[in-house]
Amino acid sequence: MSGRIPQYFIDQLISRIDIVEVIGTRLTLRKAGKEYKACCPFHNEKTPSFNVVPDKQFYHCFGCGAHGTALGFLMDHDHLSFVEAVEELAARAGLEVPRETTSTPTTHKPTQDHYTLLEQAGEYFRQQLRNSPAAIEYLKNRGLTGEIAARFGIGYSPDAWDGLIKHLGQNDAALQALVQTGLLIERDSKQGFYDRFRHRVMFPIRDARGRTIGFGGRIIDQGEPKYLNSPETELFHKGRELYGLYEARQATRQLKQLMVVEGYMDVVSLHQAGITYAVATLGTATTPDHLKRLFRACNTVVFCFDGDRAGRAAAWKAMEVALPVIGEGQVIRFLLLPTEHDPDSLVREEGQTAFEARVQQATPLSEYMVSELSTRFDLRHTEGRDQFTAEAKRLLSVISNDSYRTLLYQPLADALGISVDRLRQLIPPSGTSQNNLGRAATSTPLDSTGRGSLVRQIIQNLLHYPTAARALNRLDALAQVDKPGITLLVQLAGELQDEPQLSTPALLERWRHRPDFHYIDKLLLKEPPAATLEIALDEVKKSSEKLIADQFPQEKFDELMRRFHLGALSQEEKQELRELIKQQGLR
Ligand code: GTP
Ligand code: MN
Repeated sequence: MSGRIPQYFIDQLISRIDIVEVIGTRLTLRKAGKEYKACCPFHNEKTPSFNVVPDKQFYHCFGCGAHGTALGFLMDHDHLSFVEAVEELAARAGLEVPRETTSTPTTHKPTQDHYTLLEQAGEYFRQQLRNSPAAIEYLKNRGLTGEIAARFGIGYSPDAWDGLIKHLGQNDAALQALVQTGLLIERDSKQGFYDRFRHRVMFPIRDARGRTIGFGGRIIDQGEPKYLNSPETELFHKGRELYGLYEARQATRQLKQLMVVEGYMDVVSLHQAGITYAVATLGTATTPDHLKRLFRACNTVVFCFDGDRAGRAAAWKAMEVALPVIGEGQVIRFLLLPTEHDPDSLVREEGQTAFEARVQQATPLSEYMVSELSTRFDLRHTEGRDQFTAEAKRLLSVISNDSYRTLLYQPLADALGISVDRLRQLIPPSGTSQNNLGRAATSTPLDSTGRGSLVRQIIQNLLHYPTAARALNRLDALAQVDKPGITLLVQLAGELQDEPQLSTPALLERWRHRPDFHYIDKLLLKEPPAATLEIALDEVKKSSEKLIADQFPQEKFDELMRRFHLGALSQEEKQELRELIKQQGLR
């Protein structure tokens, strides 16, 4: 299979794998403090100068300068291509590498045809359901009414290799379009095609406008895999879509809250019970894109997980993803169900009222964080309290909403049984002492010489402290600045603001195939200009303001103003002044 590997997958992969594990299977690593050491595989040495830094998910050899991410290590050490390295890591993490199916360049965008085709396929599946007593029986046994099946457009893909082919694959172009929409699979060595979905209950996945963009299919009775999703296509991106969101918005004009559950059946059965604000991620963990989408629709998001170990782990993960995304006035709550239950089984057993009472009682994120931390660490002992504080510090450092971060100090201090002031000493507000490649944090004054241009300093700070991008609140004005590197800076900052959770290694991988990769890669090796995130935020803010101010021709402006008051401006000069005032208004 060819086709680009989607970016979101590489981000996800980087966040899943552990560089220590990856390198540890190839070199003998010795723990040294927070880092690991080994003799460098890239040059000859007797004393180890090869460091692996788990905090940063980076390796660096102080002897020969070799450095990079886990992906980069595999490429250099095992002589793998980028794609091979991705596949190797994905296999380790138990993930299948998705491909974008837009590999064949087309002159026109076949998007409209694809929507139509997916709609026709959905219609075909619904018609098949009407003709299949076995499939109808299955849905009935699971307690679904005909009404809810119709509301969600549920269908059935027959137990055949060519059902859809016969129905929609009239010619070559149609077959190709069916492959591009993920409905057909091309046989190896191009021997023909076969239906991707066979003998499954079909759940159409719709976008915000109600257009079908993909399908989820549940096997009838037993079989593997239990659920099969459409692959990533031009129209369908798993990490962004939420099953049931369209239906939830149809049901309620002004949504107060949305509840995220794990499965298709959970969503359908909750809606049937009258809980029409349930949505599901599509067999993936919650992504920042999901959260942004949810918060665009309403201000409260409830995460509902099964009460087992996996559910608890998923809840913690969701919290980590949510922290950088939560904005002002936005609320996240957690609802952990009794063990042995998923939302589908529970709502069937106890009904809408009892279930909604649980939703009402769901734990706010702040409380969830504190109680999870308190269970994880033994607060009766100094060590446990120290670990609690360290973990709290890490969590606080990724929150971008200042007032929210400030408010969390109280419950955290309460759990530790200390005052908020004391906790502020232990965790300086927004001052996280992250450091580069594990080297000691030392403060560098902003105006020290020999540190490269302001643009470069900002870029460097962003690379080391991606969350510092939030200090750049005037990207439009910055984009007007005429300095080398400004385009890269604006692009970098823009992406980081869109996805504040991006880590340094994920960022580096994102640039691997872009023109400025080597520049970024080199900059990363240098000590960061700022020693802490707090300093970085300040520097980034001040430097960018200086760049914008310098761009403004103050003298010219003053001169024009002076002559304006004398009434001595020509038409052209007046126009020029108007432009400058407009530009200044930007500031
Ligand atoms: P039912 O058995 O039909 O009630 O499904 P469930 O939703 O209770 O299933 P489960 O808790 O096992 O899985 C929850 C969600 O994970 C599903 O709705 C799917 O989105 C996803 N999932 C489960 N099994 C698979 C699988 O084999 N492959 C994929 N891609 N996703 C799966
Ligand atoms: Mn279930």
